[in-house]
Amino acid sequence: MSKALFNALPGTRDLQAPETDRIRALVAIFAEMANGAGFGQVVPPVFEEVGVFARLGEASDVVSKELYDFTDKGGRHIALRPEHTASVCRIFAQRRPLTPWKTWYYGSNFRYDKPQKGRYRQFDQVGVEVIGSNDPDIDTEVVALGWRFFERVGLRSVTLELNSLGDPEDRARYVATLAQYFADHRGDLSEQSQTTLQTNPLRLLDSKRPQDQAIIDGAPSPDLGDAAAAALARVTDGLDALAVPYRLAPRLVRGLDYYTRTTFEYVSSAIDGAQTAVGGGGRYDGLVEALGGPSEPGVGFALGVDRTLLAADGEEVFGPPDMQPTVWVVSTTDDLTGVRLADALRQNGISADRSYDGRSMKAQMKAANRSGARYAAIVGPDEAESATVVLRSLQTDDDQITMSQEELARFVLAQND
Ligand code: HAM
Repeated sequence: MSKALFNALPGTRDLQAPETDRIRALVAIFAEMANGAGFGQVVPPVFEEVGVFARLGEASDVVSKELYDFTDKGGRHIALRPEHTASVCRIFAQRRPLTPWKTWYYGSNFRYDKPQKGRYRQFDQVGVEVIGSNDPDIDTEVVALGWRFFERVGLRSVTLELNSLGDPEDRARYVATLAQYFADHRGDLSEQSQTTLQTNPLRLLDSKRPQDQAIIDGAPSPDLGDAAAAALARVTDGLDALAVPYRLAPRLVRGLDYYTRTTFEYVSSAIDGAQTAVGGGGRYDGLVEALGGPSEPGVGFALGVDRTLLAADGEEVFGPPDMQPTVWVVSTTDDLTGVRLADALRQNGISADRSYDGRSMKAQMKAANRSGARYAAIVGPDEAESATVVLRSLQTDDDQITMSQEELARFVLAQND
């Protein structure tokens, strides 16, 4: 009987070094910046009761088509999270932390979407959420934090698009105006957009189909009430004061339905393909309450880790960090000298690696050179006899030095000073 060979499922990836090293470095920068701005990390569970995500909008694809939901062995209807915001609001509603509650996160999300470059069924996001304040200056700080992060990563291809859909009553009025406008042009719309018009006229603004473009270009802009207009003006003033460039994008609609007031997206021109949004977010003032919590407003964003790295590839910035070992231990003795020396180096915080399976001196030296290590620490029969080790630089022509094995770690540390 032949054995089954399993492949990773469509839309999932097996991430390996050095990509995993890059991801870790990227997340470390985000963590440092978020912590430095007063955000504490939150780690929600990967799955929740399906109802937690229903509030993202019955009319959004994320809920209607893309949820990984199933019944568990206890008969509960649950779903893998398609994003973090709803879980963060559920945590707030359940635990009632002090406000404003500022959290950041890093983790995988799951959407049964059509896989393509930059769009996966399992993907990682980093993000922040602030719950419990209406202050538009928080919107400014949140938007600017994402912008500064992309700057720090070295991306120059990112632009910031900003919009406001207003308060719920403004949004409802706008949806009605849009529905009327598109209904008047129904005959000219693509077939898919005619269907979207029935379920979610706002989403129609997001159609990329050429047939719809002229009609979308002529569509009315959001009609903000005084309070929402003042909040948007405060955010644009704030971004101006911080010299964060943005483009007002009255057609910007987000794929999730919970947004009120500020919405925004960071878009990179360095990704070839359709998936150019490297992050997005906005205000969701009714979401905590919709999840059974108090009436507390919220604002946040999530950035796509995978797409950020695609943009970095496009710009040839943020390559993998240097992960070469400092020392390659070469030992041709049968005893445990090689194991011992590598352990001593590692205990002293010096990265060390070595060859296995009793390779010849020549093969071990080849591996040492290939590894990119700075030094080879070599122990042959003579050195084993005298408890010494030969330290040879692999990157300079310096003379090699013989020292006692005990001295090795101290000596290497001193070189790095
Ligand atoms: P989102 O726009 O659905 O918003 O996702 C944010 C970012 O996650 C996107 O801009 C993109 O970079 C990345 N992303 C989304 N879907 C995929 C996918 N299938 N494959 C790869 N990357 C993807 C949210 O998730 C909201 N929770 C953001 C937010 C936070 N709003 C308020 N607070």
